[in-house]
This record gives sequence, structure tokens and C-alpha cells, in this order.
Amino acid sequence: MESPLSGERDSRPSDSAPSHWVRWHQPYDDPQSSLSLRLRTVQSMVRDVLDGVPASHPEPIRIVSLCAGQGRDVIDVVSAHRRGPEVSALLVELDPALAAFARDRAAAAGVADQVRVVEGDASLSRWYADDVPADLVLVCGVFGNISSADITATIDPLLRGLLDSGLARPDPLHLGIDTDARGAVRDAAGRPASDIVALGPPLRGRWYETTAIPEIRDQAAALARHLVTRLHRAQRGSAA
Ligand SMILES: C[S@@+](CC[C@H](N)C(=O)[O-])C[C@H]1O[C@@H](n2cnc3c(N)ncnc32)[C@H](O)[C@@H]1O
Repeated sequence: MESPLSGERDSRPSDSAPSHWVRWHQPYDDPQSSLSLRLRTVQSMVRDVLDGVPASHPEPIRIVSLCAGQGRDVIDVVSAHRRGPEVSALLVELDPALAAFARDRAAAAGVADQVRVVEGDASLSRWYADDVPADLVLVCGVFGNISSADITATIDPLLRGLLDSGLARPDPLHLGIDTDARGAVRDAAGRPASDIVALGPPLRGRWYETTAIPEIRDQAAALARHLVTRLHRAQRGSAA
């Protein structure tokens, strides 16, 4: 079995076929796959968050990842970032083979003390009791796989939290939240965020027609172009 850091490790239990979610992760082993491109985008966003944590931030810098899968997004960044030793990350993952992969990867990367992997149902609030408020919460690869009702039940408290904390404000018509033309969420003072972007129905105050798939697809395409540009810029910066 290869090191989990090589990305080649087969996390399936020897006596059973790989689960659906283990198979879902297999394209991560190909650096050219779209999943690997997405991973590098997410990692650049995690890196940006750590870069932006003020030096005065009390330890630890808390990261929580729901439905964390193999945990490459958090583990690989924490293990390489100068603020990594200050991080306390909680990864919650239901699939035993994937949770084991994440644990092994964290140990191989030398961040087993910073990254705690819980094998459990991420919808149970008890896992998070000691890890909130968090500085960064990752919910990656989840909304494409749950029902609309569950998406709403997750998003509503998130929106409420953004509004209550001043990280977002209602749009002037109070139909949704206020953003700039690219969808960057404006905070209570009207400043567009660099790392909070809205798509679809929350933008009714700006576009009104923003609930049909073609409209959301156009917004997603514009956001994808922006993220890819940003990723290329970050890659050029790290290569310099
Ligand atoms: C689409 S994958 C995303 C994995 C990872 N966040 C990523 O972006 O690479 C969804 C993950 O959610 C996990 N999962 C599904 N239901 C879960 C639950 N109730 N609690 C925790 N994890 C769950 C699956 O095992 C799978 O690893």
C-alpha cells in the first residue's frame, strides 16, 4: 500500500468492494482530472483564508469540514502552511475507509495533532460542540447530493449567521442578499467579500430572474472563470 500522501492509496477494505464514495474519490489520483482541478481551487481558497488570519488571532485557528471525504483540501494545506501549527481542524466523514484515509494522510503529513478525523454523521451537531465558532467551515461536494429541503435547512441558518455577524447585508429591495455584479457578497458596510460569493435565488434583488437553471448556469460559468483565473494567478505566485 502506498503512502496516502502519494494519492495512490487504495482505501478499500480488503474483503469488500469500494463504496460509492470511495469510487467517487478515485479521480483525485489523476492530477489532470476535473476533480483535481476543483481540489486545487478549494485548496487555494483554504490557503487564502490562512494567509488572511491576523497575527493577533488567538490560537487555535479553527477549521471544520463536513462530509470531508479524504480530507485532501484541509490536510495538504495545513501541512504546508506557515500557520499550520496553529490550526485545529475537525473533519467529519461517514465512510470508514475515507475517514481512515484522511487519518493516515494527516499522520503521513505530520499534522495528526492538528487534524482530528471523526467517523460519523456530519448532520449531528454534537461533533462540533468543541470546535465552534470556526474560522473556516468547508461544505464541499454536499449540495449536489442532498435534497432541496435539506439544502434550505442548511443554508437558512448560514444566511442568518452571515447577516447577524455583518458579513452580509440584505439587498436594497430585501429580496435576498446584496452583492456586486460578480456575486461577491457585500458586508454590512457594503464592501464586497473576496471569498464569499452567492449564486441563484439569493441574488433576486440584483437580477430578479435568477432562479432558472440557464440563469444559474451562466452565473456558475462566470464564477468558474473567475476561480480558474484566480487559481492560475495563485499557481504563478507559488511558482515564483
Ligand atoms: C461528494 S463527496 C465530497 C468529499 C469531500 N468534501 C471533497 O470535496 O472531496 C461527499 C462525501 O460525503 C460523505 N458523506 C455522505 N453522507 C454523509 C454524512 N451523513 N455524514 C458525513 N459524511 C457523509 C461521503 O462519504 C463522501 O465522502
